[in-house]
Amino acid sequence: MSPRALRAVLAVLGGAALAASPAASAADAPPGASACSGCHAPAGRVASPSIPPLDGLRAAEIARAMAEYRSGERPGTVMGRIAKGFSEDEARAIAAWLEGRR
Ligand code: HEC
Repeated sequence: MSPRALRAVLAVLGGAALAASPAASAADAPPGASACSGCHAPAGRVASPSIPPLDGLRAAEIARAMAEYRSGERPGTVMGRIAKGFSEDEARAIAAWLEGRR
């Protein structure tokens, strides 16, 4: 391959890597995490006044709330049903991602 052709290939590969990077951050979200954002949007942009914002909550607090909603210990309108859809490990991964989201 001539140096010129090699430069052209590297330019294309470099461009592809740059184009892929914004998508990579969305792909970092653990399975199910995007479902939370539908109601609990970042920066207080929640879908309804009855939905508490998760901004400022630590990962441990979110994971504990999920466990309490799952067990029924913490009352809720929808979170009990939502929390039952996630295992302990999944809830922890989502909680960590939510904490780092802002
Ligand atoms: C359908 C909308 C909806 C979705 C989707 C949703 N939530 Fe909620 N969330 C609520 C509502 C409403 C409350 C208040 C408690 C209740 O009524 O169930 C709440 C409360 C919470 C709380 C307690 C916040 C506090 O300050 O007390 C946490 C933590 C939470 N949700 C985490 C999550 C996580 C994690 C997900 C994704 C797995 C999620 N929620 C998905 C609507 C939603």
